[in-house]
Amino acid sequence: MTHSEKIRLSPDNRYSVVTRGVVETESLGRRLAALLRDNPSLPRYVALFGGLGAGKTSFVRGFVSELSTARVKSPTFVLVQEYPASPAPVFHFDMYRIEGEDDLYSVGYYDYLIKDGFILVEWSERIPWALPGERIEVAIKNDDVSSPDSRQISISLQKEDGYENTRT
Ligand SMILES: Nc1ncnc2c1ncn2[C@@H]1O[C@H](COP(=O)(O)OP(=O)(O)O)[C@@H](O)[C@H]1O
Ligand SMILES: [Mg+2]
Repeated sequence: MTHSEKIRLSPDNRYSVVTRGVVETESLGRRLAALLRDNPSLPRYVALFGGLGAGKTSFVRGFVSELSTARVKSPTFVLVQEYPASPAPVFHFDMYRIEGEDDLYSVGYYDYLIKDGFILVEWSERIPWALPGERIEVAIKNDDVSSPDSRQISISLQKEDGYENTRT
């Protein structure tokens, strides 16, 4: 069954699915956490893309629930939340209010990058210059007005020298 099976990346390093309801999006987050935990060679940096109400925080809630008993809060006003987790803590950022490099330094973003932990970043579209070359991308789209509880979710593995990497 699609919403309980393990995530298996396609040969071009993608996994795409439509979720119907928040529970399925949380489940997908949980399964991504299991994939990253069980495959230490995969990046532990997850860049989430998608507008307000897309389901980013719901996805993160599922992810964290696989590794931790901590409860996920929306970090919009705190910018970063830390969840004790096994095998490594989860650092959850929300970049909605980030205007530039100075803001990233003041939240200690670059210090987190060198810590041993999983990093989940909401509103990654705000910091394209600061995303590591190797990362997991999770793009959530809710543009189907005819089914308000459906989300098109695409997970992809981005590699340092990937042709899609357009960092300057
Ligand atoms: N398939 C779905 N996946 C995730 N959330 C959904 C889905 N369908 C409806 N929703 C609703 O959309 C909202 C998503 O909120 P949230 O996860 O906080 O989004 P974001 O962090 O992207 O702003 C919640 O109210 C949730 O109940
Ligand atoms: Mg959110």
